[in-house]
Parts: sequence; structure tokens; C-alpha cells
Amino acid sequence: MTKQHTSTDLQRIREQFPALGRLEGKEKAIFSDSPGGTQVPISVIDAMSDYQQAGSANLGGFFATSEETMALVEQAREAAGQLLNAPADGIVFGSNMTSLTLALSRAIANTWQTGDEIIVSSLDHDANITPWVLAAKERGCAVRTMDFTASQNLSVTELERLLSGRTRLVAFTLASNVTGSITPAAELIKAAHSVNALVHVDAVHYTAHRLPDVQALDTDFLACSAYKFCGPYLGVLYGRPELLGSLKPYKVRASQDQPPWCWETGTQNFTAIAGLLACIKYHGWLTGSGHDRKGLQASANWIEGHEQQLSQRFLDGLKGMAGFTLYGPDTTVGRTPTFALAHHQHSSARLAQRLAHHGIYTWSGHFYALDLLDRLNLQERDGLLRIGFVHYHTLAEIDRVLNVLGDISAGAVDDSF
Ligand SMILES: Cc1ncc(COP(=O)(O)O)c(C=O)c1O
Repeated sequence: MTKQHTSTDLQRIREQFPALGRLEGKEKAIFSDSPGGTQVPISVIDAMSDYQQAGSANLGGFFATSEETMALVEQAREAAGQLLNAPADGIVFGSNMTSLTLALSRAIANTWQTGDEIIVSSLDHDANITPWVLAAKERGCAVRTMDFTASQNLSVTELERLLSGRTRLVAFTLASNVTGSITPAAELIKAAHSVNALVHVDAVHYTAHRLPDVQALDTDFLACSAYKFCGPYLGVLYGRPELLGSLKPYKVRASQDQPPWCWETGTQNFTAIAGLLACIKYHGWLTGSGHDRKGLQASANWIEGHEQQLSQRFLDGLKGMAGFTLYGPDTTVGRTPTFALAHHQHSSARLAQRLAHHGIYTWSGHFYALDLLDRLNLQERDGLLRIGFVHYHTLAEIDRVLNVLGDISAGAVDDSF
């Protein structure tokens, strides 16, 4: 049974985050820009500072700080494996998801022949589209695009329409960073594997809200980014160990030949790796159940339950408000608490400015989901307003956001705000 958190527990959780104490005038700032990056708990900040203070060093030396750094990387790899339900030798660290995907796409593309095909999705962030499109172009391969459904999700029927005996790779997201839609990933992967295509999933948005499971998904590759789930700026890639071993990464001669090391080009960000380890421990701490897979699952269950309440409150509050259009699921099912809105009169930048005026941080624009915004004909209208919550948000914060949206809806503010 997952432990239920009381409001006092949530207070204790929030106290771990120095940034959440930030004031905007007399009120606390609301960090509903979280799909663009979360805040970090003090344990993560301390772990990064402690690593530097104890003395940092590169790998491979016969002295203490180098050995300690090696032990740190191994522990972090093990912990990231628990997070993704993956073996530690399937975990690769890198600067961020985009860089890791660009590097991986070049290596995989070397196995493609002219006339092969790849499939990307129009729901995705560009970091899981353009690296594959560029690689396909270089190799003379065709790119097919899996379009999203009327409710801004992916469907197996659409994927099956595009798959062929020449499909080499299918890339799509586990959850949209714009609409919060959670995709039917396991079914999509099964369909892709039925024609022996490899699958690369983007878990960058998903990991803040659900626990990825590379084994249950049966995915070949998965990429995520720790700064989206209360960690440092660090990318994490999972690859099936046998694939990481058989593919040839672009690397320099003197670096390691063994996977996963050979995929980690140049000196790694050991400070961030120390932060990632602390971040995974923080997730286990949430329910006091530890940071092995079981403990992390208990915390993820709590996060899902709490975020479901946040989504319910937000959607209930939005229901009566004229002037707004919500993109993505209009129920709490199959979504994260990330909401994409347009207003019939005000541009999304103006809405974000208005919210910022009340100490509420949000993003407006395309969020790098260029195809999604194009197909919704929203690029010219300066995109969408994105309001996103994570597990450290409270119902009271949702109410404060709804109050401002309510005033805008009621016309209590004009376009001169
Ligand atoms: C869904 C999704 N995928 C990929 C990325 C790119 O991640 P990174 O910043 O680690 O390159 C982002 C960043 O916003 C994202 O939201």
C-alpha cells in the first residue's frame, strides 16, 4: 500500500526546496513552469556542493578523489537503473536528452540502407524528431510521420498504417510536454517490433510524473533529463546493453571501448551525476520507502495520486471559464498535470505575462513541439499557454492560478494588462 500524504507531509516536502520559498511581492511564487524544468531539493544541491568540496577528479587515477568519483558514477548508474528498471550497464550519462539523441541517431543511422524508412511523431518535442530526420536524410532514408489523434495522442492504428518491412526505427514520446497526454507506448512498441524496427522513446516529460519501466515497455532506447524531475541538468539514456555493445558510437580513440562508457564522450559532469544520485534518493525519500525499484514505485504511486487531485482541481475550475480552449485530455485519465490553453482574445504571451504579474510562472509559445503547434494551426497565434504542476504543488496554488484565469475569462482584465 502506498503511504497517503497529509497536507503536513506536503509541507515537509516543500520545505526541502529552497526555491519554493521565493517571494513575489507578499506572496510565494508559483513555479507552474515545471514542464520546462523543476526546482531541486536541498539534498541535491548539497550533494553537488559536497562532491566539489571533497575534491573532484577525473576517472582512472590511483588516488582517492579519482576512486571516489568512479564509485559515485557506478552508484549513480545503479540508481538510474532502478529508476528506469534497467540494468546498470544499459545506462549512459550525457549533457542532456537532445545531445544524447543526436549522438545515438548518428550511430544507429550507420546501420541503415538507402530506401529504409523511419517513423517519427507529430506529437513530439523536436529533440525526438530532428535528430532522426537529419540522420535519415544523410542515409537516403524516408521519414514518415505518425500524426496525433483528435485528442492529441498517438494511436496504434496510425502507426500500423505507416509500418513496413523497411521500417528501421520508430521514435515517439511517452508523454507530451505540451498537452500532458500519456501515449499508449507499450502497444506502439509492440507494433514497431512486429516489423523488427528499433524503438526510441522520449521519457523527458513522463519521468516527472510516472516511473518509466524499460522492461515492461520492452523499448530498445529511452532518454530522459534529470532537470525535469527535481535533479540537475543531466541527460540519461537507456539502451539495451547488447545494442549499446553492437552499435559503434562516435568517439575519440583514447576513450574507453566498453559500453556504456564508450557512449560517454569527453569528461562527464560528475557534479551533476552526484546530484542525480541524490535526486533519485529524494524520490525514494518521498514515501520513506528507499530508492530501490520497489521504493521508487511506492513514491511514483503517491506522486500519481497527488497529481491526479491537482489535475482534477484544475480541470473542475477551468470548466466554467469562457474564452479558454484546452488542448489534450479533458479528464484526469491518461494525462500529467500539464495543461495547454489558448484564449480566444489574448495571445499566449500576454496570458503568461498576466500570470507572471501575479507571481505565477508559466511558459508560452511552441515548447519545441513545432509539428504539434503547426498542425493545430497555432504557430501564427504565438502558440499556447502551458501551465504545469508536479508533486510539490498544492491545491491552494491551483486555486490561485484559477483565480487569475477566472478574472481573465470574466473580462475583468483587458488586453492592456
Ligand atoms: C518532452 C521533451 N523531450 C525532450 C526535451 C529536450 O530535453 P533536453 O533539454 O534534456 O535536451 C524536452 C525539453 O524541454 C522535453 O520537454
